[in-house]
Amino acid sequence: MSDEEPPKRRWTGKPKGGDGQRQMQTRVKNKKLDESSRNWVKRHLNDPYVARARADGYRARAAYKLIELDEQFHFLKRGMKVIDLGAAPGGWAQVAVQRGAGKVVGVDLLEIEPLNGARFFQLDLLDEATPSILMDALGGAPDLVLSDMAANTTGHARTDQIRTGALADAAADFALAHVAPGGAFVTKAFQGGLDAALLQRLKQNFVKVSHAKPPASRAESSEVYVVAMGRKSQSSA
Ligand SMILES: C[S@@+](CC[C@H](N)C(=O)[O-])C[C@H]1O[C@@H](n2cnc3c(N)ncnc32)[C@H](O)[C@@H]1O
Repeated sequence: MSDEEPPKRRWTGKPKGGDGQRQMQTRVKNKKLDESSRNWVKRHLNDPYVARARADGYRARAAYKLIELDEQFHFLKRGMKVIDLGAAPGGWAQVAVQRGAGKVVGVDLLEIEPLNGARFFQLDLLDEATPSILMDALGGAPDLVLSDMAANTTGHARTDQIRTGALADAAADFALAHVAPGGAFVTKAFQGGLDAALLQRLKQNFVKVSHAKPPASRAESSEVYVVAMGRKSQSSA
């Protein structure tokens, strides 16, 4: 399970006439959730980043991963055009807007609450039509493509890694096709990183490619981030 993701496959939300949180806690107590879901709930309830996100008004604790990555790499610049892939519920978009992005266009399979300074689409990045919809909405090449996309989990670790790896590869293809010269690309990947050939293409097309594990990314999660800075103007993709 992604560390941002509640055990939604097993948890179907607020029951009729009941209190969703109470039922979730009851299920935890009654051991009706499987062990990994119970662990997720326990971790979530005790996570200082979750409390901090609530206090700071962020929609997701993931916001701190982007803040920490930007503190390390300084890719967010005032006035820039940003594409946010896998944007729900909008934590990264909030950070991009706060740090002065001129235009933010986000996409997710899930609906996203509106946010001043950002425009969201409920679409699948893997659909053929999606990239051009995003590019039309942005009205020019993005200076920064962000991807925090993660696949819904199946409970089988290797399958989950492959599925999220495929999303990172799709994000990298999008970035290679669209990022403006001098621009940057940041994506979630999993230990072992991106597909080797794709990583090689990133290295050929960006001045510097780094791997990073921000403190807000849980130590027990195999997620890492790939940060590619300085898109070269001549594409060798
Ligand atoms: C970890 S969450 C992103 C959190 C986000 N960065 C934030 O700060 O709020 C991962 C998201 O990727 C989305 N996602 C997964 N597959 C996708 C796809 N094919 N197209 C678009 N979004 C996708 C999921 O729906 C999920 O909302």
